[in-house]
Amino acid sequence: MKPLPPSPLTLDPARLPRHVAIIMDGNGRWAKQRGYPRMRGHAAGAESARAVIREARRLGIGYLTLFAFSEENWQRPAREIRTLMALLKRYLRQELREMQEHGIVFNAIGNLARLPADVQEELRRTREATQNGSGMVLTLALSYGGRSDILQAVQTLAREVQAGRLSPDEIDAARFAGALYTAGLPDPDLVIRTSGEYRLSNFLLWQSAYAELYFTPTYWPDFREEEFHRALWDYQRRDRRFGLTQEQVESGLLARLLGAPPR
Ligand code: IPE
Ligand code: IPE
Ligand code: MG
Repeated sequence: MKPLPPSPLTLDPARLPRHVAIIMDGNGRWAKQRGYPRMRGHAAGAESARAVIREARRLGIGYLTLFAFSEENWQRPAREIRTLMALLKRYLRQELREMQEHGIVFNAIGNLARLPADVQEELRRTREATQNGSGMVLTLALSYGGRSDILQAVQTLAREVQAGRLSPDEIDAARFAGALYTAGLPDPDLVIRTSGEYRLSNFLLWQSAYAELYFTPTYWPDFREEEFHRALWDYQRRDRRFGLTQEQVESGLLARLLGAPPR
């Protein structure tokens, strides 16, 4: 049995994950449960995103990545896609000022060229308008798929090799990571998935190799500050070993290997 978290939760500010990534799932079921159209679930989900972004920033988390639309989601009914895109555009417009006020640096990853032109334009505007921020880096994964991310990185590197600018032997993990959509972002320390599903659904496959995974039955529209704290609290109780023994970790070896204090 998992121990019940204390109330109120006490988080150690020194041991917060540097990068939290969230698979925001369950909007449709949340709506269905209430007899609402799916879209109402997505609208409520946008409120959860707002709340979690705010709280992550307040806590001082460095990087927050939200899975908002997967490559596979393009196969949904056209009407749902249209309304999701409209919601996204409205959301970006509404949130820009608050992002700027709090120094949030906005970023989007995925096959963005597939998004409607007006959404691409809004993403570009939001990115540009927040680039000078010095606070949390907020990344939306849109039209994102982990396998496609890896494939496009392979293609980029293959082109470099073909052009004679890169030797195959020079392709190491760091160079590969630099060719992924997530270049410049640290690997996620904590991946949260809501709605009771125990899968990654093609999210950050390479990047999550050593992430701590947190699953909750809560549907995304019900996932707010309190649940977020619970996930962080749970994370802080885990022992991350990265393949070492606990004794090695305690001797400080991990910190030396990572070049930073363990988180
Ligand atoms: C997550 O909620 C949002 C997106 C994938 C866009 P869903 O729309 O997948 O909700 P469920 O899984 O059908 O409940
Ligand atoms: C994953 O949710 C994608 C996002 C949250 C954007 P899905 O609802 O698309 O995943 P599956 O189909 O249940 O695996
Ligand atoms: Mg779903």
